[in-house]
Amino acid sequence: MSQAWMIASGKGGVGKSTITAALAVALARRQLLTCAVDTDIGLRSLDILLGLQNKIVFDMVDVANKDCKLKYALVQYAAAPSLSLLPAAQLGTSQDMSAELMGKIVRKLKKRFSYVLMDAPAGLERGVVNTLHSADHTLLIATPDDVSIRDAERMTALLEKLGKPRPLLIVNRVVPEMVLAGTMYSPQTVANTLDVPLLGYVPEDQAVLRALTGHRTVMEEDCPARQALDRISQRFLGEFVPMPAFTKKRRLFGWR
Ligand SMILES: Nc1ncnc2c1ncn2[C@@H]1O[C@H](COP(=O)(O)OP(=O)(O)OP(=O)(O)O)[C@@H](O)[C@H]1O
Ligand SMILES: [Mg+2]
Repeated sequence: MSQAWMIASGKGGVGKSTITAALAVALARRQLLTCAVDTDIGLRSLDILLGLQNKIVFDMVDVANKDCKLKYALVQYAAAPSLSLLPAAQLGTSQDMSAELMGKIVRKLKKRFSYVLMDAPAGLERGVVNTLHSADHTLLIATPDDVSIRDAERMTALLEKLGKPRPLLIVNRVVPEMVLAGTMYSPQTVANTLDVPLLGYVPEDQAVLRALTGHRTVMEEDCPARQALDRISQRFLGEFVPMPAFTKKRRLFGWR
């Protein structure tokens, strides 16, 4: 059965779009029909993250306004053709979309795709609420700091208020050395604080920025963030993949 997931955070800039693009590519590489939906109207980013920015003709608002059929707004990702992108409008605001229209589009997408991954805007305003209504499940993204945790708490409260299932958590931008030194919360501590199950964590990794500059996803890089996202995609599909423990790296002259 098809599933629609919202990737949300509360706080902005914590890695929702990066993780949506990476997870969508990971699923498509397994031949799973996947649609990445950018619901951040006016501030879209998935097109650039997937290197599809020059292929966009129509967007989600055009579909909602009946200016084009859904199939004409979908852009296929050539490197993994099981993946398509439904872009957000480049201009406009969340006011240009209603929860009903978004729900209708997502229901249509679920007939064509096994996984619909919706990259939500930051905050808790209308854009997020629209997305939330059409999603079956939520992936909550947080960074290991008090500001992000507090905003994620507000998101979990909103989900609970609207009767949505408990989200799964991904903690992003984790610096293992800082966790070991006790100067950063561990991913499990963040999960315990939020009282949500931990799907995985992604380390802070310069390769993420390198990929962004090259308009490709981090899944094209051979780096710790990509390895973590591979494990996360396996767990997302229900496979048992243990969470690697934080260990000190051994250097030639001792530990660091
Ligand atoms: N694990 C990581 N290591 C290093 N940089 C990262 C990591 N994850 C994300 N970033 C960087 O953080 C920035 C914000 O990421 P991204 O745009 O995915 O966040 P967002 O939550 O979608 O933001 P917004 O709320 O504005 O939509 C980007 O420059 C991205 O490259
Ligand atoms: Mg984003």
